[in-house]
Amino acid sequence: MRDAAPTAPQPKYLADYAPPPVTVTHVDLHFRLDPLATRIRARLTCERREPGEMVLDGEQLKLISIAMDGAALDPSRYTLTDTALTLHDAPDRFILETEAEIAPETNKALEGLYMSGGMYCTQCEAEGFRRITWMLDRPDVMATYDVEIEADLPVRLSNGDEVAPGKWHDPWLKPTYLFALVAGNLVATSDRFTTVEGREVALNVWVRPGDEGRTGYALDALKRSMLWDERVYGRAYDLSVFNIVAVDDFNMGAMENKGLNIFNSRYVLASPETATDSDYANIERIVAHEYFHNWTGNRITCRDWFQLCLKEGLTVFRDQQFMQDERSAAVQRIGDVLTLRARQFREDAGPLAHPVRPESFVEINNFYTATVYEKGAEVIGMLRRLVGPEGYAAGCALYFERHDGEACTIEDWLDCFAEATGRDLSQFKLWYSQAGTPVVTVREDFKNGRYRIDLKQETPQTPDQPNKAPLVIPLAFGLLGRDGREIQATRIHALDTATDRLEFDLDEKPILSMLRGFSAPVILQHDQTDADRLILLAHDTDPFIRWEAGRMLSKSRLMAAVTDGAGFDAGWLDALHRLATDEAADPAFRALALALPSEDDLAGSLHAASVVPDPDRIHAARKSAQRAIADRLADDLPALRAAMAVPGPYDPRAADAGKRALGATLLRLQTLRDGGDAARAAYAAADNMTDRMAAFTCLLEARDTSVAAAFEQDWKHDRLVMDKWFMAQVAHADPSEAVAQAEALTQRADFDASNPNRFRAVLGGLSAGNPAGFHRADGAGYALLADWLITLDASNPQTAARMSAAFETWRRYDADRQTLMRAALERMRDAASSRDLREMTDRMLG
Ligand code: PHE
Ligand code: ZN
Repeated sequence: MRDAAPTAPQPKYLADYAPPPVTVTHVDLHFRLDPLATRIRARLTCERREPGEMVLDGEQLKLISIAMDGAALDPSRYTLTDTALTLHDAPDRFILETEAEIAPETNKALEGLYMSGGMYCTQCEAEGFRRITWMLDRPDVMATYDVEIEADLPVRLSNGDEVAPGKWHDPWLKPTYLFALVAGNLVATSDRFTTVEGREVALNVWVRPGDEGRTGYALDALKRSMLWDERVYGRAYDLSVFNIVAVDDFNMGAMENKGLNIFNSRYVLASPETATDSDYANIERIVAHEYFHNWTGNRITCRDWFQLCLKEGLTVFRDQQFMQDERSAAVQRIGDVLTLRARQFREDAGPLAHPVRPESFVEINNFYTATVYEKGAEVIGMLRRLVGPEGYAAGCALYFERHDGEACTIEDWLDCFAEATGRDLSQFKLWYSQAGTPVVTVREDFKNGRYRIDLKQETPQTPDQPNKAPLVIPLAFGLLGRDGREIQATRIHALDTATDRLEFDLDEKPILSMLRGFSAPVILQHDQTDADRLILLAHDTDPFIRWEAGRMLSKSRLMAAVTDGAGFDAGWLDALHRLATDEAADPAFRALALALPSEDDLAGSLHAASVVPDPDRIHAARKSAQRAIADRLADDLPALRAAMAVPGPYDPRAADAGKRALGATLLRLQTLRDGGDAARAAYAAADNMTDRMAAFTCLLEARDTSVAAAFEQDWKHDRLVMDKWFMAQVAHADPSEAVAQAEALTQRADFDASNPNRFRAVLGGLSAGNPAGFHRADGAGYALLADWLITLDASNPQTAARMSAAFETWRRYDADRQTLMRAALERMRDAASSRDLREMTDRMLG
């Protein structure tokens, strides 16, 4: 347990930033590892910059000894509390030596030094280092490190270069949050890479014995990432070794520690038998993301945690660019927009809305959000669109040159672009401070050869921000003729006022293709006719717009089905039929275009249209739409499925993955017609996990749970595969049974709540995977999740608080559900043992 929070904890403010009076320039660490009594000797080289006390952070540490410049420090010269070590009269230059004792074995928060599957590992971002030793645990204190690890273990790793077995030196300045240590009985898959600068780099992926056959894809992704960053951003690697370690118990996806990336094992380990196509894609993206942090995050870091988007938004943008280059750009962009809308728009529309650069927080762990990451990445994309690719490259080059080795702010970043391009970015900067998703309304008018587009922008109120100023919104658009020909190629209009008008002289009213490539993270309100959307779907030059037009057609049908029980018209079904059977189109694109808006997306859109969403009706409407599509495609399904068969050995790359994705979509439709016959055959024939999971989830939806036992029999030895098994049974259960199913799974001996992946599989399988089940009218879903989050919060506040965001939509629903969700939130707030969960529940209750 940590800081019990009986009263609301105090926030920190960006405006209060002040540099520390005394800083640390070098850190010397000696670890003697032991599960219950690890000893850490720290020798800090300290330098005064300004008058004032030196306050070092330290939590859950037992003090063994403390000395200054070689002599024991008299107790009158320092004060030690649960969270800090204060030196009252620190001189201008001195060496501080402390010895601390901690118990990694009992650390279930997975922050600081802990144990997972028999190995020692660390997680220091954001403020975990203070659980290892006393230090200025803040990103603006950058130091070089020497580390020695004493343990009877074959593999002992830390940051930098290994100077002797178990001894490491990191020559690059870094803040505490990038420190890492790993020790255990591990095996490596290794390779080499020569940088453009001629540096020879040893690459290793470290895993537990038995997992070494599943490291190849991560290693391949790493090499491609290194090449890409050299080629596209001119950034080369800067140490003689790059280590990646896979850890089973991890709160997040992965961590960019200097030269020693630590990964949740689900984002490293992959084999065709155990990992799906989306696992492979995630591994590729996350390996790239962490590698790219070496420059955007590590060489140049954040001055304070308010600037988190400086490294995260930029690095997500870079990993998205990488994925577009390595895979299909169109499919990647559509996927990124889907994620942004599903997570960030949802966040922006509720009580947890906050700016890309927040101005206050209680617990920084609560701000590793879709807004900081995904909207942060969109802001970089808009900057690039506004200054153009050359301006962007020039701004980046200036940033790397000017700020290498520094801890920076968003102002530092934007100044580089203003200077490199001569552009005034003061209005653009509002994207960092103003929360909420702007709504851009488009009205068209055509009279006497004059075509007019009237534009209006409005950003809704968000917590603490009642009034919003107009933003600079890059709107990429084009025009089509009624025959589908493009009559105006893509142009970018920077909308920077509340209203604006564009005018064209034309013979006939064109079809407006607005927000090509999703050029800004806004909600577009544009009443287009079905006829126009069908033309865009069939002919637009921009694949995002083609997909978006199809999605709008589907969404309008689904909204009508929910609100008025409307049926499904032949025009729409014919359009989907044309898409499904369009052999010229990329199968991955066809799969995306056939996918209906999610239940949560529909609930959010209904709410935005002032309709109270009914989760059961939404679920039913989606199901009947799928049945209607299955019936329309019935005659073609066998041939279409056959055409998606992928011969030869499994290849995770985009071409085959796209075929499997469309194949799975078609199998889902087929299952609605044959009750599972095709899926049973597909399950039996599957020779890879992608096909197996597709068939398994189809059968669960057809209420054939018999395969679950066989699946378990085949895979019970494999933790990552069993996570899929746990999740699928909840996410694909009938909504009326999902809560009972989740509850039953939590009773199993192999449900280990202290493993975040397993916890998320079951409870996230309910709250995110089965919305109608979670929102069961009697509140049983809310109660189950609240119970488990309260339990988890006592040991792992970070994951408990993160998952509590399942309740952020509570104000969307009917009075009865609101009462039940509010009660669950109040119960969590009152029982919160951490400031993490306390802050989240306080914010959601408003
Ligand atoms: N910095 C990590 C990333 O984005 C995420 C992370 C945050 C991991 C906090 C662990 C703890 O790559
Ligand atoms: Zn990151």
